[in-house]
Amino acid sequence: MTDLILKGGTVVNETSRDLADVAITDGRISAIGAPGSLGEAAEVVDVTRMHLIPGAIDMHVHFREPGYTHKEDWETGTRAAAMGGVTTVFEMPNTHPPTRSASEFRQKQDCAKKACVDFGVYGLLAEDNIEELPGLIDAGVNAFKCFMGNTFGNLPSPSTGAMLEGFEIIAGSGLRISLHAETASIMAWRQRKLEAAGLNDPLYHIAARPEVVAIEAVARAAILSEWTGARIHVLHISSAGELRPLAEAKARGVDITGETCPCYLFLNSGDYDRLGSVIRVNPPVREARDSAAIWDALQSGVVDMIATDHAPHTPEEKTNDIIWKADCGFPGVETQMPLMLTEVAAGRMTLEHYVRISSANPARAFGMWPHKGRIAVGALADITAVDMAREEVIAASRLHSRGKVTPFEGRKTVGAPVHTLVRGAFVQRDRQIVEGMAGHGRQVTDIQAMPAPNPQNVDQSLAYLLGTEGTT
Ligand code: NCD
Ligand code: ZN
Repeated sequence: MTDLILKGGTVVNETSRDLADVAITDGRISAIGAPGSLGEAAEVVDVTRMHLIPGAIDMHVHFREPGYTHKEDWETGTRAAAMGGVTTVFEMPNTHPPTRSASEFRQKQDCAKKACVDFGVYGLLAEDNIEELPGLIDAGVNAFKCFMGNTFGNLPSPSTGAMLEGFEIIAGSGLRISLHAETASIMAWRQRKLEAAGLNDPLYHIAARPEVVAIEAVARAAILSEWTGARIHVLHISSAGELRPLAEAKARGVDITGETCPCYLFLNSGDYDRLGSVIRVNPPVREARDSAAIWDALQSGVVDMIATDHAPHTPEEKTNDIIWKADCGFPGVETQMPLMLTEVAAGRMTLEHYVRISSANPARAFGMWPHKGRIAVGALADITAVDMAREEVIAASRLHSRGKVTPFEGRKTVGAPVHTLVRGAFVQRDRQIVEGMAGHGRQVTDIQAMPAPNPQNVDQSLAYLLGTEGTT
């Protein structure tokens, strides 16, 4: 018996859109068919006028637990994800303690038992834990994170020597290494001089971390990746300048992917006066010309995906007249989809392309394809129903994250996720959290190791999806 049929919606994948019903059994998509053709189910939900897209996969969230639970924890963080149409998150290791050994990884897995969406856990690659890397791999981390530059948590940035050895160790595992690509020594040097000169205004944050900080880091990491065969991912691309070493590395055949985040697309140096220290994030929000270049790179495929760098802090931590004393980052897992759908609604990007950068590409880059990242028979039923006409306003009072200070406060959006299903179960329904789903989330380790779903079924569903007329 089919558990659930989503009826009357438009199914959108990265290369197709079709009016189709979707049947779900045991957490997977069991059939996709013409409207009304799928028979009976225990539950039928009418999604007429909605678009069904693969749930977003956010490769970059900081859920703060263990250690900084006054900012966020796994329950509040994954509830925010569910409200944001995000069905899988990868969580960063700059917690307290950091995720730098197998035992600390197990401690984090314990915290993650409260998750309502699926998740991956990053292990740390730092100056002082190289000997822990094999243990982290064996224990089952899903990827690695390397802070090439200092940021929240002040974890010891690895020297190039430590990075090279770390890359050599991780290369054999096939796990991807995500990089905070800013070079620590350049930033420390410049910030020291600015601070000594008493230059404390928000815009000096850009002066301390100019574009070259990121360009040099991306180029250097790509060389180490090329040398060792380690797969890498450039987090939060903030500048036009980084795109060249990224594109060149891709052209040389380096297994490198890149992400950007909404703040680098929607904000620029003109917003510092208005937002003050709230806008402080690493790497910094830069110039309008950087945003324009990153938009182009998202369209052309040089930048592979959109993530959020969800980095919640309290109002006290975010607010300071001395920019160097304000914590960096802000929440984002809940607002990425409405912000991006607003651009889709305005015609800047197709919904198919949004599916590619928010779900299909992250699934491929981090070993979850074909189970995640698409709506097809055999795939996991991670599905977000979006209402492309729904108008909302981003407001602290509506956010589900514990950290509510966002530079997008007051921004109007068009298009919102109205239901979020993780492996066939609603975690968000009609813009409300479904209670009682804490613990529904599973770590993706099994998924990364699973055989591909029945290829015959995959072909059938694609034939159907590609063979029908496009609809809206
Ligand atoms: C992040 C945080 O607060 O953990 N802050 C940020 O400015 N992006 C750390 C990070 O990803 O660099
Ligand atoms: Zn970072």
